[in-house]
Amino acid sequence: MFQLVYISKAKNRLGEPELLKMMANFRARNTANEITGLLLYDGKGTFIQLLEGEVDAVQALYSCICQDPRHERINKLHEQTVEKRMFAQWQMGFKRLDKCDVIEQEGMSEFLNQEDGFDYLQHHPEFSIQLLHYFRQC
Ligand SMILES: Cc1cc2nc3c(=O)[nH]c(=O)nc-3n(C[C@H](O)[C@H](O)[C@H](O)COP(=O)(O)O)c2cc1C
Repeated sequence: MFQLVYISKAKNRLGEPELLKMMANFRARNTANEITGLLLYDGKGTFIQLLEGEVDAVQALYSCICQDPRHERINKLHEQTVEKRMFAQWQMGFKRLDKCDVIEQEGMSEFLNQEDGFDYLQHHPEFSIQLLHYFRQC
């Protein structure tokens, strides 16, 4: 099993209906490709996504994602081989960070107060991983 985490920046700010439509497409494709994971969106254009599955499937999807014109500044933060999936039940979980009521993760308000969350994550890559772990328990 293989896991990959990247961050990216949406080219246009995305509204709720558009995001939900995209998610429905991703989930259908991920079910077929046995990909699971979690996509976080900060409401201001920054994505954090963890993809997991067989190495070939994850790498193939990541190549498609890198060419997707809906976002830019795609930046791989982490990849590793793992024994088992972290998000086995999630064909692609989705959370909007700006719509969460209470988030107890340390550093969260600092992150959400940033003018540009993407720059913050580039300088604090470990925070992206902490967020993914945090939302796994929600
Ligand atoms: C932020 C973001 C996350 C994405 N996540 C997935 C995903 O989890 N699964 C997926 O199949 N496509 C995902 N896509 C879409 C792919 O980039 C691509 O459009 C899709 O795999 C279809 O590729 P194709 O038209 O080249 O076959 C994502 C796109 C963006 C912008």
